[in-house]
Order: sequence, then structure tokens, then C-alpha cells
Amino acid sequence: MSNPWNEVPLDVYETHMGLSSVGQLQMLASAMKEQFCCCKGSVAIFGIAGGNGLEQIPLDRFSAIYGIDVNPEYLEYCGKRYEAKFGGRLHLIHADLSDPSVELPAADAVIADLFVEYVGEDSFAMRIDHMKPSFVSCVFQKNETCGFVSVSPYTKAFDPIESICHDVEGTRLDQLLQEVGYRRSNLKTYLLPNGKHFVRMDWLRM
Ligand SMILES: C[S@@+](CC[C@H](N)C(=O)[O-])C[C@H]1O[C@@H](n2cnc3c(N)ncnc32)[C@H](O)[C@@H]1O
Repeated sequence: MSNPWNEVPLDVYETHMGLSSVGQLQMLASAMKEQFCCCKGSVAIFGIAGGNGLEQIPLDRFSAIYGIDVNPEYLEYCGKRYEAKFGGRLHLIHADLSDPSVELPAADAVIADLFVEYVGEDSFAMRIDHMKPSFVSCVFQKNETCGFVSVSPYTKAFDPIESICHDVEGTRLDQLLQEVGYRRSNLKTYLLPNGKHFVRMDWLRM
């Protein structure tokens, strides 16, 4: 069965996330700038979509950037936007990361922003255990007062993904990563315009 993310066009995703009332695209890009400063060498970005945040990457720190996504159209756009700028360093990989048989290249760091929501904490921790990067960083959203998808004229387009998304339990994610050899090195909260929060957690391999 096709992943529901294949039913959400990239322009709809980016327009919705970038609305001033939602403000998530901008917040994710600034979180990524901070995440890139915490690692170097090679980085795997899970759920890269159209490459939001890649403009923040300090190219002198990275020899390889692996962008992975289940939606091939997102990767096509990402390639058009960034391949020339990054030369041979950007590698886009079409894969469903909820499938444990999918093998990824080794990477020094994994960045997964608004991604664990769709594969679950256990599957994510298992993959990290398999890859063993030195640095892991995730951003996930907290929805105390509002629904999972922020209200906008585009909300309906996200109906297909409602069936696979769930709130990330930060304490559980932290526990699972500890069990596979990581210690948390950072916890940060970002307040969004509509009252939602993003939480960022970073871990280092012990
Ligand atoms: C909410 S978007 C986040 C995009 C991006 N990180 C950002 O900052 O805008 C979630 C992304 O994860 C991808 N995704 C969801 N489930 C996936 C899976 N099982 N395997 C690979 N990619 C997946 C979606 O296609 C989408 O691009």
C-alpha cells in the first residue's frame, strides 16, 4: 500500500507550513541551522521533503548529505533546488523508512524533523541502533490545545496522513535511545505562532 504522504503535493505542504499563521517551515529551517552546527562529516536527513532548511547547511562541514523520503516527487524537487549547489555531495534516496529491511549508507549524524510522528518511536530507535551515528537530533510537535494539522485553507489536503500520524512521546523516545547507547545532550522548545510547540532533542552516542 502506498504511503499516504504520496497523496500530499509538495506545493500544498510547503504553502501550508509556510503560512504566517502556521510558521512551521521557517521554524524548522532555523532549527536545522542549529542542528547542522552540532555535527559534521556526513548527515542523513530523514523525511527531507523538498529540502526545507538545506539552504542553512554549512557546506564546508559536510562531505555527504543523504536526503531520504518516501515521496519521490518531493525528492525530485529537492534535487532540482539543491543538486547544482551541493555538487556530488547530495544523495537523494527514495525509501520507506518504516520498512526495517531498507538499508541506508553509514552517516555521522541523523536529523529527523517532524518525522518520528509517522514511523513511531520504536521503529526510529531500531534504525538508529542499526546505523549508529555519533549524533542524532529530532524535532517533533506538541499539540496541547489544537489538532495535529494546523488550521489553514489547506488542512483538508492532509486528511490522508491523519491515519498514520501520532504524537511523539519525548520521554519514551529518550528512553529508547538511551537503551541503544545514546545520552541526551540537548532539549529545546520552540513556540509557534498558533500556540503549538516544537520540541527538539539531541543525543550523542556513548
Ligand atoms: C511533516 S514532513 C517534514 C518535512 C521536513 N522535515 C521539513 O522540515 O519540512 C514529513 C516528511 O517525512 C516523509 N515521510 C513520512 N513517512 C516516511 C517514511 N515512512 N519513510 C520516509 N519518509 C517518510 C514525508 O514524505 C514528508 O516529506
